[in-house]
Amino acid sequence: MENKVRVNGLTFVPYLTHDVIMKEVERVASEIREDLKGGDPVFICVLNGAFIFAADLIREIGMNEGKIAFVRYASYEGTSSTGHVRQLTGLTEDIDGKDVVIIEDIVDTGLTAVKMIDDLKKHNPRSVRFATLLHKPASSRTGFTPDYVAFNIEPKFIIGYGLDLDGKVRNLKDIYVIEEEE
Ligand code: IMP
Repeated sequence: MENKVRVNGLTFVPYLTHDVIMKEVERVASEIREDLKGGDPVFICVLNGAFIFAADLIREIGMNEGKIAFVRYASYEGTSSTGHVRQLTGLTEDIDGKDVVIIEDIVDTGLTAVKMIDDLKKHNPRSVRFATLLHKPASSRTGFTPDYVAFNIEPKFIIGYGLDLDGKVRNLKDIYVIEEEE
């Protein structure tokens, strides 16, 4: 793990190591596997940020009959939410009568999650569950609570393991938090 990561003039320090992340991915995967027993799952990865978490989580869940689909939403500019959620790419798989598990990188205000669930329910899934790598409960503007959370974190801006700053640093294996001003 790097000591500091600098991007766009901001400095980030270590927050969650890859090993710690993978332990929680395994825990969430076993919870989902248990809850989906006998179901007909479609895993919906929310692009762009969730692609790394989704890849690890879906392989760990290990349900060969589960299908994988993608949607794309955006609400952030730089390090803060615009409060305006846009769908950039719609559903790529039929979810009629299916058990949907949405896989998201982070729930901040909850606005994206609420809009997404609303959009997906129009396609008549049998059930909808929501898994997120990170949740910032203190930032909630919706009261939305995910079904599966790997980490509840403070309301600070973080990067790595799929999470970006202006499209950069998604490649980092570990997660970093923005450095506090002294
Ligand atoms: P929400 O709609 O406010 O819950 O925001 C969800 C989206 O905001 C996530 O899918 C991310 O794209 C982005 N986001 C929220 N917090 C962070 C962060 O700390 N780092 C990077 N992206 C974030």
